[in-house]
Amino acid sequence: MKSILVTGGTGFIGSHTVLELLANNYQVVVMDNLRNSKIESLKRVEKLSNMHVDFHKIDLLDKPALSGLFNKYKFDGVIHFAGLKAVGESVEKPLLYYTNNITGTLNLCEVMQENQVKNLVFSSSATVYGNPDQSPLTENESLSAVNPYGQTKLTIEFILKDLQHADSDWNISLLRYFNPVGAHKSGDIGEDPHGIPNNLMPFITQVAVGKLKELSVFGNDYPTPDGTGIRDYIHVVDVAIGHIKALEKLREKPGLVTYNLGTGKGSSVLDMIQAFENANSVKIPYKFAPRRPGDAAICYADVSKAERELNWKAKYSLQEMCRDAWNWQTKNPTGFD
Ligand code: NAD
Ligand code: UFG
Repeated sequence: MKSILVTGGTGFIGSHTVLELLANNYQVVVMDNLRNSKIESLKRVEKLSNMHVDFHKIDLLDKPALSGLFNKYKFDGVIHFAGLKAVGESVEKPLLYYTNNITGTLNLCEVMQENQVKNLVFSSSATVYGNPDQSPLTENESLSAVNPYGQTKLTIEFILKDLQHADSDWNISLLRYFNPVGAHKSGDIGEDPHGIPNNLMPFITQVAVGKLKELSVFGNDYPTPDGTGIRDYIHVVDVAIGHIKALEKLREKPGLVTYNLGTGKGSSVLDMIQAFENANSVKIPYKFAPRRPGDAAICYADVSKAERELNWKAKYSLQEMCRDAWNWQTKNPTGFD
């Protein structure tokens, strides 16, 4: 498996994964509609790797354009990142999310099938565990959706299971990411959210750089040691390397496999603030605010399956995640602009 199509490859996790693919001698083609990313991320990847990557500005909803892409190249497999991911926006615009994420994935699978390309790595999410009442979460935990974004991930997982069940030539890896943060150590690629960030780490870095005044910590009355929510933050480069391991696994023709990509360690919001302050010697002003609706108290992964079957283990510490996120933010205060 040498030639890989990466959908959503100019995005946050996609750009880091393209860099790892190139370092591992894969031939990579990227497609993205640039709705939530900039072509500059790929230019930076090319500079860091000293390699060229073919890019096609294509929307997954444009099936003829997708077919054209598969006619032009002979892919061995696809890593499918492309999708919309903002939970709040998905509540306001469910039809946009269902169409973009689900119809987009159906188009991709149909074109793959037509071209006999049947190796797929899909970006799923810990959101498929819904609002879990216990952690660590194994891959066998019960699944549910608590918002339209989560429903798209869950639905796509079911679609891919049915597809593989119907045609055992398909080999599919569902990767459930926990909370990817940080940036490549060069500080040249990283997370570039549009507008005010929804997620904790980009919010912290924008407070640290002075773009935002203070962080609101959503809830200090959760049943956790310090009262704030606990998550499994994982360095984006560890997530990217997980995709290389997932591709290697697909060579064994495993059918459909599912893996959590996390560290297996839970950190609270206050732990994150502390780690960021310690790693970077900056102060993060914060205040306590009401809970954010829909947030779970505790959510972290059991990662033993990925360790065992993919020979993969996250290696970056919280300190390194905070250091690299800050390095990216200070080198690029306005992102890729
Ligand atoms: P991102 O927004 O940076 O990257 C997604 C890319 O997909 C963007 O470049 C966007 O322009 C592109 N895209 C969206 N719809 C498209 C379409 N119809 N056609 C073509 N391109 C399209 O997000 P990310 O953080 O890199 O996430 C990548 C994937 O991982 C997403 O599917 C996301 O749901 C999933 N995921 C992310 C997280 C996280 O916290 N970042 C956690 C769990 C799962
Ligand atoms: N938080 C704050 N203040 C903020 C932002 C977040 O206190 O300004 C808290 C949240 O309440 C939560 C923790 O920080 O306790 C992490 O919040 P994030 O928004 O960074 O991440 P979530 O775990 O809520 O959600 C993320 C992605 C989802 C994905 C989920 C599981 O945004 O898309 O991880 O993978 F589904």
